[in-house]
Order: sequence, then structure tokens, then C-alpha cells
Amino acid sequence: MENQKKYTIHPLLEKRWSPRSFSAEPVSAEDVNKIFAGASWAASAMNEQPWQYVYALRGTPGFDTLWACLLPGNQPWAKKAAALFASLQRNTYEKNDKPNRFALHDVGMANAQLLLQAGAKGIYGHLMGGFDSEKLSTVLNLKENVSPVCMGALGYLGEPDDLEEPYRSRELAPRTRKALEEFVTKL
Ligand SMILES: Cc1cc2nc3c(=O)[nH]c(=O)nc-3n(C[C@H](O)[C@H](O)[C@H](O)COP(=O)(O)O)c2cc1C
Repeated sequence: MENQKKYTIHPLLEKRWSPRSFSAEPVSAEDVNKIFAGASWAASAMNEQPWQYVYALRGTPGFDTLWACLLPGNQPWAKKAAALFASLQRNTYEKNDKPNRFALHDVGMANAQLLLQAGAKGIYGHLMGGFDSEKLSTVLNLKENVSPVCMGALGYLGEPDDLEEPYRSRELAPRTRKALEEFVTKL
């Protein structure tokens, strides 16, 4: 991690990562609400707060419904998550129904805060773009101006050895980041 070798970042940011192995420890609805409260305080264009979340705890029919929307590459490891969620965007402003071109950006902001708020409680989150968007929209009966952004898994950390391949190797692979010079320009 080039950047982290040179600069110290906040421990919450340093701790955040996207694991595939989750322990059997459950998370409660109260825990999940606290995590979504972190999302709710994200910045958003016109304070529109265009994010919406649908979640389910492991062992419930709702969990199976969300899990069934994941693509096969995510299903094997995500089945052990303590909770699954779908993050959604409202594409139009509530006050005038005009398109909100910042909706996707702002849901990303909320998702980032969600992950950090979870991290502050020792809970890890793993976002997933690998899901069937049409299927999710259908099972959640989404309105026309609401679209899925991504799905996510939450839970306490498990052991890499509990994962099957190729997930175990991915879990143990070193994490990499671009050097600052590759994406920061000083004029
Ligand atoms: C929008 C989005 C979609 C992602 N989709 C997947 C996915 O479908 N499956 C997966 O295993 N990881 C997925 N990830 C996780 C990324 O692979 C991961 O964030 C990236 O490799 C950096 O690793 P880190 O989060 O541990 O720092 C996704 C992340 C984001 C933000």
C-alpha cells in the first residue's frame, strides 16, 4: 500500500477493508440501525439524501431473498455474512421530480460512511456490484425512479481458512493502492 507507507491515515480508514470471511457472531437490528445512522449523516446535493437501504439479518427469509439476487461469484462467501443489504438511489429530487445527477455520487458517500461507522463498532462491510439488478428491483418492488446501486455484506471478521478457493487466496492477497502521483495533480 504505497500511500500508507508514506502517510499515516486515520485508523478507521486504515482498518476498513472488504473481507469475504465472516464469523458466526450475529449483528442485531440495533447495530445495523446505528450503521445506517452513520450513512444518514453523509453530505448530499441539496441535502436530498437520495439513499435508501433494504437489509436483512442472516437466518431470515429476507436474507435469502437478498442473497438470491447476488451473482454466483459472491454467493458462496456472502452467505455467511451476518446481514446483507441493498443500497438504492432515488433518481429524482423529491421537491420537483427533476433528475438528480448527483444521486449516485451521494449514495456512494453514504455507503462510505456506513462502512466507517461499521468499522468503528468492529463490524466489517463488503460492497458488491455483482448482483442481478433487475431481479433485485423486482423482488423489492422498486418504483420507477428508484434504482439499485450496489449490495453489501456486514459482519464480524472470520478466518480466511474457513473460505473455499478462490476466496481464501483473495482474502490473503496483499492489498494495493495507486501512488498519489498517479491520481493527484497540483497546479
Ligand atoms: C461499487 C463496488 C462494487 C464491488 N463489487 C464487488 C463484488 O461484486 N464482489 C467482491 O468480492 N467485491 C466487490 N467490491 C469490493 C472491491 O473489490 C474492493 O473494495 C477493492 O478490491 C478494494 O479492496 P478493499 O475494499 O479491501 O480496500 C466492490 C466494491 C465497490 C465499491
